[in-house]
Amino acid sequence: MALLKIARMGHPVLSHVAEAVSDPTSPEVARLVEDMVETMLDAPGVGLAAPQVHVPIRVVVYYMPAGRDENGVGEPITALINPVLTPVGLDRDYATEACLSLPGMAGVVPRFLNLHFSAQRLDGSHFEREVSGYHARLLQHECDHLDGILYPQRMDDLSTFGYIEELSERDVEDEADGYESGENP
Ligand code: NI
Repeated sequence: MALLKIARMGHPVLSHVAEAVSDPTSPEVARLVEDMVETMLDAPGVGLAAPQVHVPIRVVVYYMPAGRDENGVGEPITALINPVLTPVGLDRDYATEACLSLPGMAGVVPRFLNLHFSAQRLDGSHFEREVSGYHARLLQHECDHLDGILYPQRMDDLSTFGYIEELSERDVEDEADGYESGENP
């Protein structure tokens, strides 16, 4: 296990489309996932995509602490290999996001409320689910990293983008909970 260095906005690895993983069962992928989980928990964060640790392949890890999602039970630490997201319906909502690659900053981002996703597990098996709300938002944020997209590129009102400390003083959004920072400002 090892802590990995997290790339910050401006590093080219964050703006490229990541490669598909050809063999999810390889020891290299298993080791990467272990290290990504350790790095995510240390940061602390609730999601991390492989390009954020300078590995341009389609791997995401995340979890949801109990109480953070609508039904209150959370999600265990999960690794998604080659995830594919498909919005279900056109409903969107707005909420404040933060990102480990933009430390100290946050902004209000529109995301689809409901989506279907498919992915592979570390054993190579395929699975699919439908998720909504916070879970759907978190996955959209993380999977955007696999396509070289950071959350400011999804914003439609940059006046809500700024340093978390300043935003909280303005009381613009009191739910600036940082989808990756995992901390209240
Ligand atoms: Ni992020």
